[in-house]
Amino acid sequence: MILKDYLSSKKVVFEEGLAGVLPSYEDIPIINDAVKYSLFAGGKRIRPIMSFMANELFGGRIEDVMPFACSLEMIHTYSLIHDDLPSMDDDDYRRGKPTNHKVYGEAFAILAGDALLNCAFEIMLKAIERNPRPEFIKAASQIATAAGVSGMIGGQCIDIFYEDKVVDINTLKLMHEKKTGAMLTAPLVVGALTAGASEKDIRIIREYGAYIGLAFQIADDILDVEGSSEKLGKSVGSDANNHKSTFVSCYGLDESKRIAAELSKKAQKLLEPYGERGALLIELADYIVNRDN
Ligand code: IPE
Ligand code: IPE
Ligand code: MG
Ligand code: MG
Ligand code: MG
Repeated sequence: MILKDYLSSKKVVFEEGLAGVLPSYEDIPIINDAVKYSLFAGGKRIRPIMSFMANELFGGRIEDVMPFACSLEMIHTYSLIHDDLPSMDDDDYRRGKPTNHKVYGEAFAILAGDALLNCAFEIMLKAIERNPRPEFIKAASQIATAAGVSGMIGGQCIDIFYEDKVVDINTLKLMHEKKTGAMLTAPLVVGALTAGASEKDIRIIREYGAYIGLAFQIADDILDVEGSSEKLGKSVGSDANNHKSTFVSCYGLDESKRIAAELSKKAQKLLEPYGERGALLIELADYIVNRDN
């Protein structure tokens, strides 16, 4: 199947699954609306869909990976709500709409992020309670680590610390691997784990994830300079406004594009042993560096 069709059909499947697990707190003011506002605002859903791809590649069942896919998207959405806050990147536009804090205020945007993070863990733990397979526990642990200080939160700390400062190339790479790479590698590993993949397969898919995860954030840095705000659904020029250290600010546009393409090729090479079965992930590596949103 062509990647484009796969992405659009799995997006529908995923959103049905997500709507089914999202709790509703009718007796609490604002929070349901604030959470739903950002969660159903039309993101690409690339992380959950990547978990489906890896799960399929290793012969798994979508119902086994679904709770973890939902958890990944909830954590990702929380990271975006917090990333946009005035105290972080101070952005006004996300997923084609005003940012969460613009609509619900900063306090409820913080709480909506907190709610999503907590909900992500509730969903994973419920799945484990229903079926306490060791692979499910490992999947939850992967997600916790990817979202935490050794992953996404750590990367965000580096990002904020290096505003207005000169960053060295190794720190820049580390920042991208953590703030974005970790939460793009985790879906692949989780998809593989829930399918009962071998340790060797998990190692390969993790390595593939590390390459495309870094490439994804380099592409994001490029899009912040030359992308279209309509297509992206978020503000462009945010990095320059905030004096961020990015691949573009360190290497320039052309060299950043070359590095991203090289990472994508390296990722694709790793999938050679899987032949036709790896075709979608090969296409995905191209999509990640050539996307316009
Ligand atoms: C944006 O992620 C934040 C980064 C990690 C670069 P996406 O580009 O996946 O955003 P959505 O989920 O499609 O809105
Ligand atoms: C954010 O990176 C990565 C996250 C962990 C949210 P950016 O700050 O570059 O993401 P955008 O460009 O606002 O989506
Ligand atoms: Mg940021
Ligand atoms: Mg940002
Ligand atoms: Mg960005």
